[in-house]
Amino acid sequence: MNARVAARRVHRKQAMANNDKPVPPPTPIERPPAPRPASEQPFDPMPARGPDAPESNEKVAALESFRDHPRGAVLTTDQGLPIAHTDDTLKAGVRGPSLLEDAHFREKITKFDHERIPERVVHARGAGAHGYFRLYEPLPELTRAAFLNDTSARTPVFVRFSTVVGSRGSADTVRDVRGFATRFYTREGNFDLVGNNMPVFFIQDGIKFPDVIHAVKPEPANEIPQAQSAHDTFWDFVSLVPESAHMVMWVMSDRAIPRSLRMMEGFGVHTFRMIAASGASVLVKFHWRPVLGAHSLVWDEAQKLAGKDPDFHRRDLWNAIETGAFPEYELGLQVMAEGDELRYGFDLLDPTKLVPEELVPVRRIGRMVLDRNPQSFFAEVEQVAFHLGNLVPGIEVTDDPLLQARLFSYLDTQLLRLGGPNFHEIPINRPLAPVANHQQDGFHRDTINVGTASYHPNSIGSGCPFLAGGAGFVHRREAVHGELTRRRSESFRDHFSQATLFVASQSPAERRHLIEALSFELGKVTRKPIRERMLGILREIDPGLAAAVSANIGVPVPTGPVQVPEGTSPPGPRGDNGGVVASRALSLEHQPRDSIATRKIAMLVADGFDGAAAARVHAELVRGRAIVEVVAPVLGPVTPESGAALEADKTLAAAASVLYDAVFVPGGAASVARLEQSGDAVHFLQEAFKHGKAIAAAGEAVELIVLAELGESVLAGEGAEVRDDVIVDHGLVTARGAAALPALAEAFCEAIAQHRHWQRNVDAVPA
Ligand code: HEM
Repeated sequence: MNARVAARRVHRKQAMANNDKPVPPPTPIERPPAPRPASEQPFDPMPARGPDAPESNEKVAALESFRDHPRGAVLTTDQGLPIAHTDDTLKAGVRGPSLLEDAHFREKITKFDHERIPERVVHARGAGAHGYFRLYEPLPELTRAAFLNDTSARTPVFVRFSTVVGSRGSADTVRDVRGFATRFYTREGNFDLVGNNMPVFFIQDGIKFPDVIHAVKPEPANEIPQAQSAHDTFWDFVSLVPESAHMVMWVMSDRAIPRSLRMMEGFGVHTFRMIAASGASVLVKFHWRPVLGAHSLVWDEAQKLAGKDPDFHRRDLWNAIETGAFPEYELGLQVMAEGDELRYGFDLLDPTKLVPEELVPVRRIGRMVLDRNPQSFFAEVEQVAFHLGNLVPGIEVTDDPLLQARLFSYLDTQLLRLGGPNFHEIPINRPLAPVANHQQDGFHRDTINVGTASYHPNSIGSGCPFLAGGAGFVHRREAVHGELTRRRSESFRDHFSQATLFVASQSPAERRHLIEALSFELGKVTRKPIRERMLGILREIDPGLAAAVSANIGVPVPTGPVQVPEGTSPPGPRGDNGGVVASRALSLEHQPRDSIATRKIAMLVADGFDGAAAARVHAELVRGRAIVEVVAPVLGPVTPESGAALEADKTLAAAASVLYDAVFVPGGAASVARLEQSGDAVHFLQEAFKHGKAIAAAGEAVELIVLAELGESVLAGEGAEVRDDVIVDHGLVTARGAAALPALAEAFCEAIAQHRHWQRNVDAVPA
């Protein structure tokens, strides 16, 4: 702990001690309420959580000196003046004018008036979490970075996930890129890995960033639409800038609508450099791999979620951490030899290209666990300031022109967003490593620099602080020369081959979704020439894709070559991506599908449900660490045919199938008869079915499936399987007899683990 933090702690303790003095004896009204049941306890800032408990997270502990626990404190002004009354302003007479003399009123309103800071220019909507990173094995041959060489270190991290386009209050599930920014609080300083959930980007040079962002953001005249790319300006831009083709395929794919922030990959995007203690360097790409696998929503579901629960991702992350289901991601590296920048048939400095894993496999080097929610959204999530330039010895940048632009942009924007040059002193931004330099003063300076010498070199201050020598950050030795130019490298001109690779790697269902997404988005473009120009780009990527979209959007696929405006990089010869024509890693179909952990299951019941069936399936789901919610026509106890009542978690009116991963309906004649009368219940099932979700029905509930018109087409459908009297038909699991319950529960869990069942024919199913 440095002296400043220690002093602050003493001050805090004194303040709390002082606060104790004026606390009046509790009146009957002020007496603390009776203890609440454990499930209703307020968030305990420091709960014990086992050997890897966050108490051992140094960053979380360091934040303690800044935390303000108001327990037992008396209300004061910011000057510490105890306040006796805060519900009425000071007035001249009870019905008279308010008086300027009321300092408490003025302070309270002034502070309120200034509560907001500018939202981020991009990535304004986000959610964050604390956690830690552990390394699997030292990597001395790759890097001298201390945290990548010490397997005993438990490096604290703070992660912020975000969408790019929408403003702070926009919905979580919009079609967009997700930011995946990670700060490692290492003992050599903060290392920020500021990535996205897609491995490439729209543009090759950062000077075009304002253009692509202006194009995708709401249109300037009317600020419409919010958090959407489905409008003319975005498609106008990308149809004129063919280097965006590859990224456009990612954004139109299922990757842009993740099921959960816990179920999406992360990528550093650019090629970075790692430098070993020997001075040897390699080129690397960073990857995050979620342990639960990457999974996505369905577009119709994502749109409905934006209304039913705009905080869907934020809530999912928060609840998972609160309930101890800590999100985990493995950190992976693709390592390429220095000098191999052009070896793979494209340029490693071009951020519109990924390195197919068939050419360079991903080596998993460690695991990150997110195990603590922030305590103050504003103090931690809103004020965290990531910066690509926050590097540690052993990790460096490359000449990727997008990366180079980012090195300028983040610090620059944060100077305004966080109100001056001292935002590194905001608790969440403070490194754990000691800070000592001659930088000083400016708005909101917290540190009291002691001493006379605020320059280097000095003798008056005994030469402090000293240079770190070999332990410090030393830039790599690299010869840099070249003519002044704004030209784009010829090696950056293959704009289509990787877009083609991405499309070729999709499963049939993913390809269908891609066509639907493009048809939806371009269907909203009002100007025909833009739609047509975009089809020209699609034709270069995949003529079949272009034809399918063309059939939906009322314009023909153009025949001539792709034209670009003057100054825009025209497409050049296509590369062959090192001979890779389809890559497994690019399809979500090959993601892990072996767990139902943290999946949310709705159990639809009404009075008279079959308690034994409900208990049997519930037990199996909970054993797999799924989360079961009881959804009933009304709140309160729901009584089974026999046995103990269940408490309803949600009503059919308040819940919606889109909030769940799967649905189970136990039998019980009275319960099923009641649900059959409920349009909400039937709609719930139809919608879940349409979205490819696992559905199980037992006993009389099979009739509900038939009523919802899911039965006739699917119970005897092609590909259905009968196991121990259980019919398993593309994720629809039904059994009439009680003896089949164990097999039904097992088959249901298997179906949930599959995530979605795309083989169903759902075109005719209403939703
Ligand atoms: C590979 C391309 C890029 C990726 C992966 C990326 C990623 C991110 C992420 C994850 C954030 C959110 C940080 C947070 O949660 O606080 C962010 C914010 C931001 N990015 Fe980027 N970005 C990219 C390109 C660029 C470029 C080219 C620029 C400008 C030249 C830029 C400018 C910004 C700005 C201004 C912010 C807001 C930062 C703040 O207010 O704290 N980004 N970016």
